[in-house]
Order: sequence, then structure tokens, then C-alpha cells
Amino acid sequence: MKWVGRVWMVWVWSVVILCGRRGALGKEEDYVKYKDPKQPVGARVEDLLGRMTLEEKIGQMVQIERLSATPDIMKDYKIGSLLSGGGSVPLQKATAADWVNMINNFQNGSLSTRLGIPMIYGIDAVHGHNNVYNATIFPHNIGLGATRDPDLLRRIGDATALEIRATGIPYTFAPCIAVCRDPRWGRCYESYSEDPKVVQEMTEIIPGLQGEIPNGSRKGVPYVIGKNKVAACAKHFVGDGGTTKGINENNTLIDMHGLLSIHMPAYYDSIIKGVSTVMVSYSSWNDKKMHANHELITGFLKGTLKFKGFVISDWQGIDRITYPSHSNYTYSVLASVQAGIDMIMVPFNHTEFIDDLTYLVKNNFITMDRIDDAVARILLIKFNLGLFESPLADLSLVNELGSQAHRDLAREAVRKSLVLLKNGKNANESLLPLPKKASKILVAGSHADNLGYQCGGWTIGWQGFSGNNGTRGTTILGAINATVDKDTEVVYLENPDSKYLKSNHFDYAIVAVGEHPYTETAGDSDTLTMADPGSDTIKNVCGAVKCAVIIISGRPIVMEPYLSGIDALVAAWLPGSEGQGVADALFGDYGFMGQLPRTWFRTVDQLPMNVGDSHYDPLFPFGFGLTTKSMVARSVSAGVDRRPYGAVALIFLLVGVYFQVKRRKLACSWFVLHRFRNSVTPSGRHPIELQKF
Ligand SMILES: *[C@@H]1O[C@H](CO)[C@@H](O)[C@H](O)[C@H]1NC(C)=O
Ligand SMILES: *[C@@H]1O[C@H](CO)[C@@H](O)[C@H](O)[C@H]1NC(C)=O
Ligand SMILES: *[C@@H]1O[C@H](CO)[C@@H](O)[C@H](O)[C@H]1NC(C)=O
Ligand SMILES: *[C@@H]1O[C@H](CO)[C@@H](O)[C@H](O)[C@H]1NC(C)=O
Ligand SMILES: *[C@@H]1O[C@H](CO)[C@@H](O)[C@H](O)[C@H]1NC(C)=O
Ligand SMILES: *[C@@H]1O[C@H](CO)[C@@H](O)[C@H](O)[C@H]1NC(C)=O
Ligand SMILES: *[C@@H]1O[C@H](CO)[C@@H](O)[C@H](O)[C@H]1NC(C)=O
Ligand SMILES: *[C@@H]1O[C@H](CO)[C@@H](O)[C@H](O)[C@H]1NC(C)=O
Ligand SMILES: *[C@@H]1O[C@H](CO)[C@@H](O)[C@H](O)[C@H]1NC(C)=O
Repeated sequence: MKWVGRVWMVWVWSVVILCGRRGALGKEEDYVKYKDPKQPVGARVEDLLGRMTLEEKIGQMVQIERLSATPDIMKDYKIGSLLSGGGSVPLQKATAADWVNMINNFQNGSLSTRLGIPMIYGIDAVHGHNNVYNATIFPHNIGLGATRDPDLLRRIGDATALEIRATGIPYTFAPCIAVCRDPRWGRCYESYSEDPKVVQEMTEIIPGLQGEIPNGSRKGVPYVIGKNKVAACAKHFVGDGGTTKGINENNTLIDMHGLLSIHMPAYYDSIIKGVSTVMVSYSSWNDKKMHANHELITGFLKGTLKFKGFVISDWQGIDRITYPSHSNYTYSVLASVQAGIDMIMVPFNHTEFIDDLTYLVKNNFITMDRIDDAVARILLIKFNLGLFESPLADLSLVNELGSQAHRDLAREAVRKSLVLLKNGKNANESLLPLPKKASKILVAGSHADNLGYQCGGWTIGWQGFSGNNGTRGTTILGAINATVDKDTEVVYLENPDSKYLKSNHFDYAIVAVGEHPYTETAGDSDTLTMADPGSDTIKNVCGAVKCAVIIISGRPIVMEPYLSGIDALVAAWLPGSEGQGVADALFGDYGFMGQLPRTWFRTVDQLPMNVGDSHYDPLFPFGFGLTTKSMVARSVSAGVDRRPYGAVALIFLLVGVYFQVKRRKLACSWFVLHRFRNSVTPSGRHPIELQKF
């Protein structure tokens, strides 16, 4: 019995030990380093990369449009990323929950792959989450440039990130940090300014979108802080705003010094602030397609500037390396991947891209190192975003979409973006602010009651929309109605004829006219005229009634011929969904304070004409903007102030010195120092004078 007991004990212990070992062994086998959030991101990337096949790596480099995707395609081709093109939505007027479900459905496909690498979904949220019904639509970048308010930009970034995440999306193709040098360019409104310094300041939207790099952490590495933030994308690298005659996707002819001092500076700021991705420009630099430019993408961006995030192509951008587009796709794949592009926005035919890239790697045209570099960068951003820990979105943020707090912020942005160009036929007869109490006032113009027009391109549809049912917001007319005294009669007529105008008495009129929505090439224009019948409306109304004209446009347009007949003129840019911001300043609840982010030309044959040019003879110079005081702060007299240009110049100087000091800390940049040696702020160089009109 005794020895039986002993044998029994030995047996029990053996089982315990063996099982324990097996348990321990099993545990070790189960431990997967890349899945361990306690590991440093670099170690996770390395571990995961080491486990991947070529097929899995190439899949990570592919981004396709949602219409080309199914959960099975995500799984079978190991697709790394999805996007919504402009206006590509799960259904008309889709709710945040509809978006979340669609994206989770695709994500489930990706998660069911061997390694379970989550896909990253990207979208053009370029002025708020603009594809999404009910989202807050912020002013387009040109209007934000007029605010000169980096803190506002950071707060807009915060709000936009929340709205994007509300729909389950972790990545936006914004901000556009183009420096538009010619308003004939159809994307000029996507540019904050013609002045690189203003564009640099506006990169403050990046810490808003991604979160601020904590004090003490290393600057200049991609950074996204948590589930309420999104990865940003500085675009379009580089020189997109400098093309000949402003032709979209055309050729930017400029020497290296010009490229570095005009088009490059905002990339330094973006990288310092931790931007996660950079999108390459369709345009060429001195006849070389940027999508095939190894010197600038690999040499300069990744080498000199030490950018560590991933570089993404534009939509079919690699196809357009050849002319005609897509005529030698294998070459396009070779040239773009060799140039240093990491993720390719394909967006439709993933099998063709995958087959070509696989062929090129297997035949040693492209090295495995190049593929590993691309995939490591993509994985880094996915780890940063927390996608491995929380790949599926939930509905916890849906109430952020179009929230009142965000609409209030957009309204603040609108009123700060308005640039008052004229106020009264002479300096002591100002028209603005307008009295809220009047017996009868007229509101006119094609843009007075059209939410689509005031939002511009990249809103709901790629090319924008017309009318008031595309999304939710307040038109300028709606805002006026809500602001005037209840006894003031508001008459709205889009284009009243002169007979009607003469037979009615109006205390004053507000006329809103401008451009119809456009996006990209569709917006290229040689004439820059306002849409019909805008000029007739101005002539008729302003010929009969004291009038304030509000221009809704993505850029300066021809105004000189009408200026003398107008009592007050406001550039409102493309203000977005919160028209109330326009009324806030018109009726004096807040003062006008915007400053021109661009030179306002007299005639198109002056173009291109930017501040600093020798032939500078603008209708209104860069930086111009009259101010009014808020009626709320005081009781009488609507004085018009000249801007305190001395103070503005001093601030520019201080900002310049600040950036110079900051720059010097950037070890990599002799050229930056070179640039700042030459830097005199445009405002400093060109004392602004009031124009004669
Ligand atoms: C849009 O917002 C309004 C007001 O909050 C709400 O009633 C409506 O359900 C929303 N619609 C969608 C599609 O989200
Ligand atoms: C995705 O998969 C999870 C877990 O299997 C499941 O709970 C969820 O319903 C799926 N979501 C969609 C939209 O298919
Ligand atoms: C970093 O420090 C500055 C100045 O001390 C402070 O204003 C800022 O809020 C800090 N930022 C973070 C992210 O902690
Ligand atoms: C620029 O535009 C001109 C005129 O449309 C065209 O002939 C030329 O090919 C374009 N160049 C590039 C680089 O796109
Ligand atoms: C595509 O481009 C490559 C590289 O320039 C060239 O060798 C090849 O002949 C081209 N193919 C066609 C079909 O033009
Ligand atoms: C994708 O490209 C391949 C190769 O050029 C072609 O055979 C195929 O028809 C294309 N598929 C689609 C859906 O366009
Ligand atoms: C101000 O108004 C008075 C009276 O209307 C006029 O005589 C004078 O020229 C105006 N001053 C200026 C600077 O326009
Ligand atoms: C808005 O209304 C117009 C005309 O009534 C209609 O054609 C259009 O489809 C509507 N748009 C949306 C987004 O509902
Ligand atoms: C504004 O008021 C006018 C006149 O009362 C009315 O015709 C119009 O429908 C109102 N429009 C909006 C958007 O409130």
C-alpha cells in the first residue's frame, strides 16, 4: 500500500509537472509580441513584419475604394486600407451608425486573416467631416487662413477628429497645406494662403486632429493619442499650389530655393507636430511627376526631413505618371514604389496592382527592403492609432456628429474668417454693422439661401451640391431672419428687377453672390467671374438700395468693375453650414476681423500676382481687412478702423523669430536656416496702403 501510495504520488506529480510544463510551453507559444500593447511600437512592428509573407506585405500597401471592397476581398487579398472617395457613402443621408456598421463589416474581413492585421479607413474630411450628412461643415481653408488664428485651427481639428471617429473612421486626408500661388487653380480654396508663413501657422490643425505630443516626448515622430483622435495627412507633396497658370495637376516650374522657401516650409511644421502621413501631389516639379520623384520623396522627405510616417499616393496618382494615364501601369507601379510611396490609392483594380507589384518584387526590380520600409511605416501608424487593440468602432461617439458645440465653433470660425473689404462709399459713412431694427429690408442673390453654394466643393458630393436639403445647416437668409428685430420685415428675392426695386422702399439690402461649387480640375478658371446673374443682381439692387454685398467664393474673383456701385463688401469665402456667423458680424454682434489670406487682383491678366511680386498692384493687398467694433461691447457709432499694421508687422516679426529659434533645433536643416536668412514677412516688406476706389 505504501509503495502504491508513493507511485501514486509520483504519478500525480509527474502529471502536474508535465501539464504545468505543457501549460507553460503552450503559453509561450501563444504569446505573440506584436499583439502585446505593453511592447514598444517599434518592437511590435518588427515582430509582425517578421511574420509576414510577401503577399501579406503587398496587401498592406493597397488602398481601395469602398465600392470595390467586400469583407471577402479584404480577407482574400489582405488589403491594408480602404477609402471613401468624394461623396462615396454607404447610403444617402447615412447616419453615424450606418457608417460604423459598414466599416466594421469590412474590418471583420481584415481581422479574419491569418495575422488579423486591421485595415485603416481614410476619408477626405477637409472642412469638417464633409461627406457625412448632418456633420458640421467648417469654412474651407482659405477662410480659415483669413482668421490668422492657430488656436481656432487646433480646436477645429479637435472637433473634426471627434466627428470622424463618430463614424468609425480613424484617418483623414487633411490638412491640405498647399500654398496656392494662382487663384485660377480649382483647389485654391483648399489652400490657407498664398503666404507660406500663414500656411505654417495653420498646421496647428494637426495637433487638433491627432492630439498634442506630450511635453518631454520626442517631436517629429508620428503621433496619435487615443480613440478620439485620427491620423492626419499633410498634402500634396509638394508644389501643388505652384503650377503654371494654376492648371490643376500641372507643372510647377521653380528652382530648389523657391520650392524650399514657398512650398516646403509647412511640411517642416507638420512633421515636427507628428503628422502621420503625407500625400503626394499629382503635379510635376520642373517636368518630373511628383509620384515618381525619388529625390524629393525618399531623399528629402524621408531622408533629410526624417519623416517616419507613411507616404500615400493620390487617387490613381500613379496611373497619371504616364500619358495617357494608365498606359504603362507596370511602369507606374515600379516608378512610384521606387520613388518611396508606401501606400497606393489604387482605387479600383487591386488585382492588377497586386500582380504588377508582386512581379516587380519577384524579379528583383523592387527590393524586399523597399517593401519592408513601406509596410513598417504603415504598421507603425496602425499601432499608433490603437487599431490592433480596438479595431472595431462602437457607437459611443455618434452624438458628436454635428453637435451644437461643434456648430458653435464653426460659427465662430465663420465670423472670424469674414474679410470686410469696403464699408461705406467714403470713410465717414460706414454701412456696417447694419441695424437689426428697420421697417423693411431686402435679401437677394443666388447665394443668399443656398446651403450647398455656401459650403462649396467637397461637401456631401465630391463637387458639392446646390440647395438646402443636401445636409443640415443655416443659410445666410436663415441667419438674417433669426437675427433681425421681430418687427423688421425681411423680403427675399433672388434676382429682383429694377422696376420692383424702384416701386418698393427698403432701408437696406444684403446681396449674396459668388461662385457655384466646384472641386479640383472642374474649378480651374481663366476668367474668375462670379456666377450669373450675380453681377446683374449687384447692379440692380445696389443701383436702387443701399447695399452690402457678400461674396461667396473659393478665391478672389473679378470685383473691380462693381466696386464703386457697392456700399459695403464682405468676402465670406466658403463658410460652410453655419451661416449664422455671417449675420453675427453683419449686424454687429461681433466685429469684423478677418485679413485677406490672398492678394485680391484687379484683372486676371495680372495673374499670377502674389505679395512681394514686383508688379504688385492689387485691388486689395494681402493682409487687408477693415474692422468694425462689436455693438454688444459698446452702444453707438459704427466706427471703421484701419488695421494697426505696425502691431501686425511686429507680431509677424516675433512669430518669425520664434519659428527661427524652433527651426534651429531641427538638426537636419541647413536649408531651413538658409530660408530664414532670406525671410522677411510679406507684411513687413509691403506696407499695406488703403486702395483708391
Ligand atoms: C440629423 O440631425 C437631426 C438633428 O439632430 C436629427 O434629428 C436627425 O435624425 C439626424 N439625421 C441623421 C441622418 O443623422
Ligand atoms: C464583426 O465581428 C464581430 C465579432 O465577430 C461581431 O460582433 C460584429 O457584429 C461584426 N460586425 C459587423 C458589422 O459585421
Ligand atoms: C506643455 O507645456 C505647455 C507650457 O508649459 C503647456 O501650455 C501645455 O499645455 C503642455 N502640453 C501638454 C500636452 O501637456
Ligand atoms: C500642363 O497643361 C498643359 C495644357 O493643358 C498640358 O499640355 C501639359 O501636358 C500639362 N503638363 C503636365 C505636366 O501635366
Ligand atoms: C513600360 O515602361 C517600361 C519602363 O520604361 C518599358 O521598359 C516598357 O517597354 C513599357 N511598356 C510599354 C507597354 O510601353
Ligand atoms: C483589372 O486589370 C486587369 C489587368 O489589366 C484586367 O484584366 C481586368 O479586367 C481589370 N479588372 C477590372 C475590374 O477593371
Ligand atoms: C465726410 O462727410 C462729409 C459730409 O458728408 C464730407 O464733406 C467729407 O468729405 C467726408 N469726409 C471724407 C473723408 O470722406
Ligand atoms: C434635394 O432635393 C432635390 C430636389 O427636390 C432632389 O433632386 C435631391 O435628390 C435632394 N437631395 C438630397 C440629398 O436629398
Ligand atoms: C426668411 O424670411 C423670409 C421672409 O419672411 C421667408 O420668405 C423665408 O422663407 C425665410 N427663410 C428662412 C431660411 O428662414
